[in-house]
This record gives sequence, C-alpha cells and structure tokens, in this order.
Amino acid sequence: MAQVTFVHPGGSRSDVTVPDGVSLMEAAIDAGIDEILAECGGNATCATCHIYLTEGCANRVPPMTPLEDDMLEGTVAPRRPTSRLSCQLVGGPAVDGLVVELPEDQW
Ligand code: FES
Repeated sequence: MAQVTFVHPGGSRSDVTVPDGVSLMEAAIDAGIDEILAECGGNATCATCHIYLTEGCANRVPPMTPLEDDMLEGTVAPRRPTSRLSCQLVGGPAVDGLVVELPEDQW
C-alpha cells in the first residue's frame, strides 16, 4: 500500500491510496481524478495517463521501458525529463510518498 499525491493543474492536491500491484493510473481513476484518461486501459499505447514526477521523486521509481519512452514522445502536454506514464508505475514501496503533477491536457 502506498500513498501518492496528485497535484492538479490548478494547484489543488488529491491524496490517493495505491494498493500493492495496482498502477497509479488505476488508483487515480478509482479516486475520480479526471485528468487521467487512460484510453488504452493501461497497455502503454495511448499516453493519456501522462504525469510528471516532482523534484526528488524521479530517482525513486523503476526506470522506464523502451516502450514507455517511445510513447512519451506522443504526449499532448510537453514531455519533461520527469515525465512518466502512470499506468507503468505500480503500487509498492518505490512509489510510497510520491508527489506527481497532472498535465493540463491529455487529449
Ligand atoms: S493508460 Fe494508455 S499509456 Fe497508460
């Protein structure tokens, strides 16, 4: 079980519990976070679950796969060095306490 804070574009924050083995994308949707669209259902083929890791968080999570890296080239909001797909980050100790920012647009 992990706690992850999603920061909305306007600055408000949503604290979300992410069960072990559940993706940040799934937990965000279950929590009603509208900025995560997840059109492909978590298969890393749509890039509509784009998030930005905040300072200090980027080095804590597992590295991205080549597929995730490719998909991040197609995000609507500009890619940053800390961009990730939330469907590819899974609940567990590595994500506990993460603070992530939601982009303005996913589509
Ligand atoms: S849900 Fe489609 S890439 Fe993450």
